[in-house]
Formats: sequence, C-alpha cells, structure tokens
Amino acid sequence: MTTAIAARPALSVSRLTVNYGLARALSDVSFDVAQGSCVAVLGANGAGKTTLARAITGLVPLREGKVLLDGQDITGWATHRIARLGVTHVPAERMILPGLSVLDNLRAAMRWAVPRNGRAAAIERAFERFPVLGSRAKQLAGTLSGGEQQMLSLARALAVPPKLVIADELSHGLAPMLVASVFEALAQIRAQGSTVVIIEQFVGAALELADEAVILRRGELAWSGPASVAGDQLAANYLE
Ligand SMILES: Nc1ncnc2c1ncn2[C@@H]1O[C@H](COP(=O)(O)OP(=O)(O)O)[C@@H](O)[C@H]1O
Ligand SMILES: [Mg+2]
Repeated sequence: MTTAIAARPALSVSRLTVNYGLARALSDVSFDVAQGSCVAVLGANGAGKTTLARAITGLVPLREGKVLLDGQDITGWATHRIARLGVTHVPAERMILPGLSVLDNLRAAMRWAVPRNGRAAAIERAFERFPVLGSRAKQLAGTLSGGEQQMLSLARALAVPPKLVIADELSHGLAPMLVASVFEALAQIRAQGSTVVIIEQFVGAALELADEAVILRRGELAWSGPASVAGDQLAANYLE
C-alpha cells in the first residue's frame, strides 16, 4: 500500500507463514501499512487474522517471512522488545486486572511508560475518551460489564500513545454505543499520528476508518485494495 515514492512503511510484512504444529494458519502473506494510515484486516472466522496479529507481535514463531517496523527488521524478536518500540496489541481477550479499581488499572498501565508528573493528565484524557470509565473510576474492574471491561482494556492500551496499534476484534460482542466509542478512540489515536491495524470479522465501522483493506481467506491474502470497495469484495467473495 505504498507507492514507489512513499516514505518507509510503518509496518511491512512479507511472505509471513505460520504453522500450528502441522496445520498451516498463515501462508505467504505480504502487505505494507503506510505511516499514519489505517488498514483493516478482514476475513471469515478462522481465516488467520488473529494469527497475523500474533505473528507481527512475536507471540507465535514464524515459519517463514519477515516483519519490518519503520524499516527495522524485528523478525523473531520477543514480544516485550517489540512492545518497547511502540507496538500495542489489543487482543480480543480483555487485558485487565480484575482485582484493581478502574483508576488503578489505568495507573498500572502507565507505570513504566508515563512519567509521574504526566499521569494525572493522561488519566483525565482516558476518562474524556471513555466517559463510562470516568463514572466508575473506583469500581473494581472485575465487576464491570463485559463491554466496560473491553473499554478499560482499550483505555489501558492507549494510555501510552502507541506508534502502531493492532486492535483485534474489539467490537466483538459490544453494544452498538460501545462499538461507536471503540472506533472513536481508534480514530483519535490515529489523528494523533499512530498507525492503526484493525482486525474485524464484520466490517461496518472498520472500513469507515480504514484507508486500505486486506482480506485473508484460509490463511492466504485473498485481496487487498482501497477500504471503500473492500466491503463489497468481502461480502461477494470471501465470507465462507
Ligand atoms: N493455538 C492454536 N493452535 C492450533 N491451531 C490454531 C491455534 N490458534 C489458531 N489456530 C487455527 O489457525 C487458524 C486461524 O485462526 P485465527 O488466526 O484465530 O483466525 P481468525 O482470527 O481469522 O478467526 C484456524 O484454523 C484456527 O483453528
Ligand atoms: Mg481472531
């Protein structure tokens, strides 16, 4: 998704191949993501979307292929090293500390990355972005509704502005109002300069935000092109 004269891509994956045991989950997948852009990764259940996120963030080993971040080869790096380069992965499973309050969850997410004197402002920003969390600051995270826990998980991930955020099916199972806040938050993060990879099984809002789209099918890159036409492609050809 870069042209010959474009700047170095924020993310470049080439020929990614991942096996789980003998089963191939991702096969020879290549694409680029331009700096500051948003790419939607689409495809039916089991197409390999989550595996792609895990491969980029070092959570599964590559059988073959390469991952470049800002031109730097991070293939085979450990997840924590990749995270330190500013890559935030928001997995579908909620990443919260259920025994801590909402406020303490946010504080914990910032502990290593935001200087002490910047934390109050960062927490205020998080509550502006997700008012539902602000009104429940003292509540134990484990007692939030599923949707609210998902918000908190995203708020934690975005507490430190990432260079690249990979959001894996965040809208899954959320009420429509919360889906809207998820996409609003991703749009804001992108407006602040982050590059965004949105993984979704169902398309709607993801394609409104995205510039480009990639469609996976049975572990292979089946189609890539402008987000504006990806929905029709997906519906017509790739949802089985
Ligand atoms: N930990 C695992 N062990 C074995 N097979 C897996 C594992 N995770 C995913 N798979 C398989 O890999 C394929 C791709 O899965 P996944 O990346 O989760 O797809 P998606 O996120 O698009 O639904 C599926 O066939 C799935 O069953
Ligand atoms: Mg998945």
